[in-house]
Amino acid sequence: MSSIEVIGGKQLKGELNIQGSKNAALPVIAATILNKGTTVLKNCPKILDVYHMVKILQELGCTTAWDGNTLYVDSRNANSTSVPEESVTKMRSSILFLGSLLGRHNDVIIAYPGGCSIGKRPIDYHLNAISKMNVTQEFIGENDAMIHCYSDQILGTDIFLEFPSVGATQNVILTGVLAKGTTRIFNAAREPEVVEVCNYLIAAGARICGKGTAFIEIEGVSQLHDVEFRLSSDRIVAGTYMAAVAAAGGNVIFNNTPTGYLESTLRVLKRIGCNIDTTEDRITIHSRQKLLPIDLLKTQPYPGFPTDMQSQILSVLCLADGESIISEEIFESRFQNVNDLAKMGAKITLDAKENKAIITGVKQLQGAVVEAHDLRGGAALIIAGLAAKGTTIVRNATSIERGYEDICRDLAAIGAQTRYCSENAAE
Ligand code: EPZ
Repeated sequence: MSSIEVIGGKQLKGELNIQGSKNAALPVIAATILNKGTTVLKNCPKILDVYHMVKILQELGCTTAWDGNTLYVDSRNANSTSVPEESVTKMRSSILFLGSLLGRHNDVIIAYPGGCSIGKRPIDYHLNAISKMNVTQEFIGENDAMIHCYSDQILGTDIFLEFPSVGATQNVILTGVLAKGTTRIFNAAREPEVVEVCNYLIAAGARICGKGTAFIEIEGVSQLHDVEFRLSSDRIVAGTYMAAVAAAGGNVIFNNTPTGYLESTLRVLKRIGCNIDTTEDRITIHSRQKLLPIDLLKTQPYPGFPTDMQSQILSVLCLADGESIISEEIFESRFQNVNDLAKMGAKITLDAKENKAIITGVKQLQGAVVEAHDLRGGAALIIAGLAAKGTTIVRNATSIERGYEDICRDLAAIGAQTRYCSENAAE
């Protein structure tokens, strides 16, 4: 397990390119199963979660290859319909193979994905929806840990999602692309990553309309064709690094940003006191570290403020001049950093019943040894370390590598003093 050392107190400046989107890459990689041919996926981030999904592709019979950030997938021989249990329990995004294997083979056996540190993360919305498409579901294996879904013919139908779940929306789309008839999803997720997987599928010959809205219609087709597709850059990675500038101060230009997908994050950073100029694919952010509090910030489904930016903004608000409240509306335990930030001198109280954090800004944070509990929480501790006085060691940094290609490389490129170090560096 690696750690990351952060030497705080330096302003950030320079230019940085933003990597490809993790949460667009994962559903698109699952979707490559639907095309019995080849996919060329450009701007694909080289991160642990992507490597994990590529390994599952290989276990299913695909051949894959990399050339820089271009991933080649040939799924002509992807004849397996079962995803190995430890592959799914290790990373919940593997559940997206439920829809694509079902769509291709009308049959899939997949493990029930575990929860993670931010919440139980059930898949009832996925299963309830797919069961309406003429699909039989059986729980099999020890402790019913596996799900066997099968159908003699998947039929399109009307699906009403209880919540605009990103994964459930994506799985219904993947199941409906090659189905007989039309599938209409009501209360669909509007996230950019749903749009991305729709764009990939449409480029491969699928018939989908309404992407990015709460009503998506998929007209089943008989097959898809080979496709070359370029992923958008990662809106959460861009938001993370902009929050780092807000906290540490400085002036940074971010290139190839998905600016249009960052509206709500940019609005929050401006409310906190950053000056921001934008074009379609470039964002310039300037922070004088005179940070303003936010009386109430709620995480919401897109286009609201993203839950995946919550931990990062919480770190910034630890230094704001006044009291802020963050209400986490999406996941049940996404305030994992509170004790670690308190070790750095932050003043945060949790209202567990309301799932709210009340942050009283302090003048200065102190470096400390802290622990990353999840992907975005780990990145948020690095942000706190950049603004702190002295050295911060973020342990369990492997969780950060799940979503950031090389956070030390990126932050060092804009003047931060960050480096990977061994786990026992803190002892
Ligand atoms: C996606 O997860 C993202 N992951 C998450 O990003 C992101 O936080 C989340 O969407 C919300 O935007 C990927 O895209 C790989 P949901 P997903 O289904 O699809 C509950 C990151 O850091 N729920 O929209 O799993 C669920 O427990 C990750 O990159 C059910 O109750 O999110 C949660 O409380 C973290 N039953 C809420 O809905 C279900 O069947 C939203 O979940 C499904 C979800």
